Amino acid sequence: MEAAASARTMFQNHAFAIRHPLADHPLFTIEALTRVAEAAAKRRGDLWADAGDLSLTDKWGTVPMPDMPIPRLIDRIETAKAWVVMKHVEKDPAYKAVLDEYEAFVRETAGPELSRMLSRAEMLVFITSPGRKTPYHFDAEFNVVVQIQGTKDLWVCDPADRSITTEHEIEAYHGHSISAGTYKPHAEERARKFALGPGDAVHVPSYAAHWVQNHDNVSVTLSLNMELPRWHHADVHHANYLLRRLGMNPRAPGQSMLLDRSKATVIGAMRRAKRTATRLAGR
Ligand SMILES: [Fe+2]
Repeated sequence: MEAAASARTMFQNHAFAIRHPLADHPLFTIEALTRVAEAAAKRRGDLWADAGDLSLTDKWGTVPMPDMPIPRLIDRIETAKAWVVMKHVEKDPAYKAVLDEYEAFVRETAGPELSRMLSRAEMLVFITSPGRKTPYHFDAEFNVVVQIQGTKDLWVCDPADRSITTEHEIEAYHGHSISAGTYKPHAEERARKFALGPGDAVHVPSYAAHWVQNHDNVSVTLSLNMELPRWHHADVHHANYLLRRLGMNPRAPGQSMLLDRSKATVIGAMRRAKRTATRLAGR
């Protein structure tokens, strides 16, 4: 890490480079991860794979899922033009132990204020064919990208630049679509480029637009995520999404704590009411 003290102020504000010791770890060989993928495929929603050529401007789900068993797809990853994603890898206790160490590191480095806000640590694994692109997008989670095998380039934009990740897009992300981030040419000029190889990691702050170009090699990458409380940002953006649909021009989060809390309270109540209605409908 560049310096532990500066990392504390940079978390969630700037992308920055970190070094990690996991590149030679036996849990992250292709062979071990094939077993992880088979386990993830048995859990609903924990395995995603697609195959095809993608450009920077494409959205998720625009290339088809390959019609072959996951072990065979991983076996042919050199030529498959594929992208395999395993979610909640920490359901396996061996991987949970690695994630726990990461979480302890983040909490200690981030300091008590940010640490109190972070929860639900998750490990995702990406296995990517040579040359594959991951299109332009942003995520709401607190994230560290960890490169295990192969080299690739990662571009990350300033999370606070609202000409790149716009207020409308963040509202739409929390309101109805996690693919709300839309490519803008000036993002390419302003992004910071990170060259990743085994042992490299990068912190990607929430709402920082980013995209990836894999080099001419198979890549294995971890994404270590943690969530921020819904009241902190997600529910305020969601409330603004609904207000804007009613023709209003709501204030962005962070301008009035009272207003932010009120919006979060309303959205929280709506969510609880929806859960109750679903439960009652099921009786
Ligand atoms: Fe991402």
